[in-house]
Amino acid sequence: MDALVSLSKRRGFIFQSSEIYGGAGSCWDYGPLGVELKQNIKRVWWRDYVQRRPDMMGLDASILMHPTVWKASGHVDNFTDPMVDCLECRRRFRADKVDETPWVHYCPATKGNKFTISAGEPCSHCGVTRTLCPECGKGELTPPRQFNLMFKTFMGPVEEDASLTYLRPETAQGIFVNFDNVLQSMRRKLPFGIAQIGKAFRNEITPGNFIFRTREFEQMEIEFFVNPLETVDGRPADEYWHDRWIEDSMAWFRRYGLSEENLRLREHAADELAHYAKRTADIEYHFPIGWSELMGIANRTDFDLKQHAKFSGKALTYFDEERKEHVVPYVIEPSAGVDRALLAFLADAYREEEVRGEKRVVLRLHPELAPLKVAVLPLLKKRDDIVRTAHAIRDELSKDWSVVYDDTAAIGRLYRRQDEVGTPYCVTVDVQTVGDQAKGEVGDGKVTIRDRDSMEQIRVPLDSLGSVFRELLGGSAWASMAGRFERKGDGTGA
Ligand code: GAP
Repeated sequence: MDALVSLSKRRGFIFQSSEIYGGAGSCWDYGPLGVELKQNIKRVWWRDYVQRRPDMMGLDASILMHPTVWKASGHVDNFTDPMVDCLECRRRFRADKVDETPWVHYCPATKGNKFTISAGEPCSHCGVTRTLCPECGKGELTPPRQFNLMFKTFMGPVEEDASLTYLRPETAQGIFVNFDNVLQSMRRKLPFGIAQIGKAFRNEITPGNFIFRTREFEQMEIEFFVNPLETVDGRPADEYWHDRWIEDSMAWFRRYGLSEENLRLREHAADELAHYAKRTADIEYHFPIGWSELMGIANRTDFDLKQHAKFSGKALTYFDEERKEHVVPYVIEPSAGVDRALLAFLADAYREEEVRGEKRVVLRLHPELAPLKVAVLPLLKKRDDIVRTAHAIRDELSKDWSVVYDDTAAIGRLYRRQDEVGTPYCVTVDVQTVGDQAKGEVGDGKVTIRDRDSMEQIRVPLDSLGSVFRELLGGSAWASMAGRFERKGDGTGA
C-alpha cells in the first residue's frame, strides 16, 4: 500500500485533499493521471453495462433529495454503526472493529513500559487483553452508541429542522424514486435495469487505508428490475438474475485486469444481511490490506419500491400484460465503488521487476484503463525535424486517444517513466525516421513502437500508426501485431 500511495502522489494519480492546510481526513483528490484512470473505469463500465445492453438505461439523479426518501429507505433509522469514544483522548472507534487494529498498552508487569500489541492479541508480559483505548492506551471507552452515517445538511436559506436533508449515502435511491418516470418515458418491459454513476457520502467512523474507505466516494450502481411472477430456467426470475449478475460482475473485473487468484465471492450470512436483502454476495479483492469488499450484489426484493410507494402515496408497479395484473418488481443490485475499483486495478497492475540489473516499476494496466495510451518520444531533442515529426504524431494521435509528448530525459529514463504510469505504448522518432539532410540521407518514414509489457519494439510506417493503434488499443494482442512488422532491438526496450 505504501508503494501505491507514494507512486500515486509522485506521478500525479492521487493527492491528499487540502494538503497545503495539513490535509482533510480521509479525503483524496485525483490528479491529472488519476482522473484519466477514474474516467476510463467509469467509461468502460457505462459502455459495457448501458450502451451495449438492450435491457439497460442510464440515469443521473441529484445528490440532494427529499428528506422523506431517507425515512422510506430505512437510512434514517438503520444506517448506523455502533461507536465508542475514548474518555481520555476523545478518539472515536467502531465498536465492532476496535479489536481489528494494534493496541497501545502500558504494561504493569514491566513497570508501565509502553507496547504496541497486535490486533486481538493479549499482552505477552501480563496476559491482559485490551479494554482501554487502543490508540492512547489510557482512556476508558464509552458503551457503544448507534451513530448515523449520513451527512446532514440544510436545504434553503434557513438552518432549521424543517429544511434538514442529507447528502445521499448511496446512489440507489435516486433510481428507485425515478422508477416510474423511466418506465413511463422509455416504455420498457421487465426485466430491465437502470444504471447510475455518482458521488455518495458517508460519515464513516473509521475511514482509512488510502482510498479504500473514505467519507466521499463514487459508486457505479445498477438496479435491475425483474418480474417476481416469472421464472427463468425453472427458477424464480430474481434468483436467476441474481446469479447472472454475480457471474457478469466477476467477469467484468477479470476482463479489465484483476487476476483470478485475487478475486473471490463471499455470501452474506443470514445475520449479516441488510434489512432489505433476501441474499447478498460480495465480490472481495485481495487488497494490500487483505481480503475486503470490492462490490456487493444484493437481491433487494420489492422492499424499496414498496417503501417509496407507502411514503409517497404513488403506485410504483408494473403492469404485467400477460397476467393482467400489477406487480411490484424485485430488484437485483450490483453496486461497486469507483474508488475501490481503482485501488484494486492499481494494486493488481503494480509490479517491481528487474531489467538488465535495474529495478523497473511498471503498472500493467489494461490498455482501456491506462490514463495515457501512447507517449511520443523524440530520440534527439536537438534535431528540429525529429521534434517536429514527434509533435505532429502526438497531435494526430491525440484526436483519438490521450497521448503525451516528452523529451525531458534520455530515452531509457523516458521509457521507465511511462512504464511507471502504465502507458501501454511508446512511439520513438529517430534519425532513421527523418533521415539526415546534411549527409544527403532520406528517412525511412518509420517510427518505433515499444510495448510496455514485453518491452519488444517494432518499426511501423508513419502512415500506418493510426490503424495500428486502433487495433492495439481496440484489443488486438501485441504478439499478432508484432508478427506483421520488422522487429527492432533485443526485446528489452532500450
Ligand atoms: N446501494 C448499496 C450500497 O451502497 P454498499 O455495500 O454499502 O451497498 C457499495 O456499497 C459499494 O460502494 C461497496 O462495495 C464499495 O465498493 C463502495 N463503498 C461503500 N462505502 C465506501 C466508502 N466509505 N469508501 C469507498 N467506497 C465505498
